[in-house]
Amino acid sequence: MFKDIKAAFKRYGPYLGLLKPVRKQFILGLLFGAISGAASGFGLPFLLYKALPVVMADPPPEFWILVGYIAIFPAAMGVRAVSGFFNIYLVSYAGLSVLLQIQQKVHEKMQWLPLSFFHKNTVGDLMARVLGDAMALQQVLTSVANDLVKQPMTIVGAIGVLVYLSIKEQETLFMLLFIGTIVLIIFPIQYAGRKLLKRARQVQETSGDISRTVGENISAVREIRAFNLQEREIGAFGQALGRFRHLSMKVIKYQNLIRPGIELMGVVGVSVAVVYMRLKNVDYEAVALLGAFYFCYDPIKKFGEMHLALKRGEAALQRIEYVLHAENTVPEPERPVELGEVRGRVDFNNVSFRYLEDWVLKDVDLKVEPGTVVALVGPSGAGKTTIADLIPRFYDVQQGCVCIDGKDVKSVSSVELRSFISVVSQDTFLFNETILDNIRVGSPDATDEQVFEAARHAFAHDFILELEEGYGTVVGERGTRLSGGQKQRIAIARAFLKNAPILILDEATSALDSESEEKIQRALEQLVQGKTVFMIAHRFATIKMADQIVVMEDGVMRAMGPHAELYASDVLYKGLYDQQFLK
Ligand SMILES: Nc1ncnc2c1ncn2[C@@H]1O[C@H](COP(=O)(O)OP(=O)(O)O)[C@@H](O)[C@H]1O
Ligand SMILES: [Mg+2]
Repeated sequence: MFKDIKAAFKRYGPYLGLLKPVRKQFILGLLFGAISGAASGFGLPFLLYKALPVVMADPPPEFWILVGYIAIFPAAMGVRAVSGFFNIYLVSYAGLSVLLQIQQKVHEKMQWLPLSFFHKNTVGDLMARVLGDAMALQQVLTSVANDLVKQPMTIVGAIGVLVYLSIKEQETLFMLLFIGTIVLIIFPIQYAGRKLLKRARQVQETSGDISRTVGENISAVREIRAFNLQEREIGAFGQALGRFRHLSMKVIKYQNLIRPGIELMGVVGVSVAVVYMRLKNVDYEAVALLGAFYFCYDPIKKFGEMHLALKRGEAALQRIEYVLHAENTVPEPERPVELGEVRGRVDFNNVSFRYLEDWVLKDVDLKVEPGTVVALVGPSGAGKTTIADLIPRFYDVQQGCVCIDGKDVKSVSSVELRSFISVVSQDTFLFNETILDNIRVGSPDATDEQVFEAARHAFAHDFILELEEGYGTVVGERGTRLSGGQKQRIAIARAFLKNAPILILDEATSALDSESEEKIQRALEQLVQGKTVFMIAHRFATIKMADQIVVMEDGVMRAMGPHAELYASDVLYKGLYDQQFLK
């Protein structure tokens, strides 16, 4: 038992600090718990002991004395009820506050974890950890905290009465009965606790599966209809639910075996006591002993439940800590070097990189002067996007280094680094906000006029004004749907507004209709002026802007030069080019 308490302290201990902002409420809540516990465990049996002889005396006492003695009981129950209420209210307040802080911490942590973390873990699973497991943990925290002081106080009070009366009335049997039943009860509680931890973890994992399935199902709403996958999806969801039910019932089983078991033991104990009292003709005083006896069982029952709740909480905590303690594989430098004014020189010095086992970039050596436009071409899977992702340090290279103005990207703060880089990629994510705010995401201080100006440069101004609410239109998930070309132009407007010295365009013109393409083409020609640009393009029309073209194949820089030179000398480049124009 004590070992369990110690283990629980060790497990939950690191989070006790979170009680600090609510320590007043928490301590006050515990105090009320102590009052409530003392009123139940000690107060009621003791009053019983004092009042019964007076009330049951022969001849009966005077009316007002009778009423006076009996009135003590509602009063004691009143104290118990009021303090019980404030106990639960205040402690729940503290528990909720701790939970919200944990959620906040997890969410904050996720903002800084590297991209690779999100490739390893699905959206649904992470959502289940942040929301579902945190909720489970909150239930545990509140229920445990409620009983934290109240129950020990109750049992201490009750045992106090038991000991006092046993000695006074020379009835040692009660003590023996009490101690005997406790020993019998502890073993099954511990057994159930061990079983429960494993099962509870499985339940939480399954609920992660469920939210992942739902998340995927909702994201793939078009594909499911297009490929007639409804039956398959229904089956998969049903299976996840079935597994959840199976495991949940096991948790419910262990959780609920405890309470009736303890109650049964309690009743057996009380029954034995009643028979003994009758046989030995014990007088009224001993009824108080029965009361104390009863008040001992309640806390034991609660201890049992608390023990199991803590195990359930451990399972949830483990899953939350998976995120909270996830290693940041792209750590911030301890003493960041200042970039200061960035001119825009970008060097890949003998860079080799891999996501997992296979090398994706091999010894890439690429020096780009400020203000140069570099186009990366090559078959898909060649490593073009990977090169682009290394500049804002979405990943760390294993060999060599990536430098901005001669400074290793690992040595500067990622916030500063990224403030000098604009990225326009194939699919633009729009937040569920107005167009105005969506364009402003990268430059929060920009005035409305500056936003309009950027939109004009991006050929977005006209179509935005045609929308019902113009720049105030809410786009994104719940708002107006925009076409691919329109979203792209908003992304370009973002880049115009941010006006960063380094620009990354990853297939910014793919999947566009020809009207959009022409406009975007013109917008990009303006945008790239004076910037260091990495351009990944399917369309050779865009590549004409480039000063240098790098041909990538299988993670290796195969050739580099201006178009005419490459067309004459590199077969892969010639092939890619002809393929597009002969179509
Ligand atoms: N997150 C990732 N985890 C593991 N492998 C990846 C990841 N992203 C890309 N790859 C692999 O790296 C290689 C290069 O991918 P990428 O840079 O996207 O190529 P490109 O942009 O030229 O089409 C591919 O073989 C791809 O499968
Ligand atoms: Mg790519």
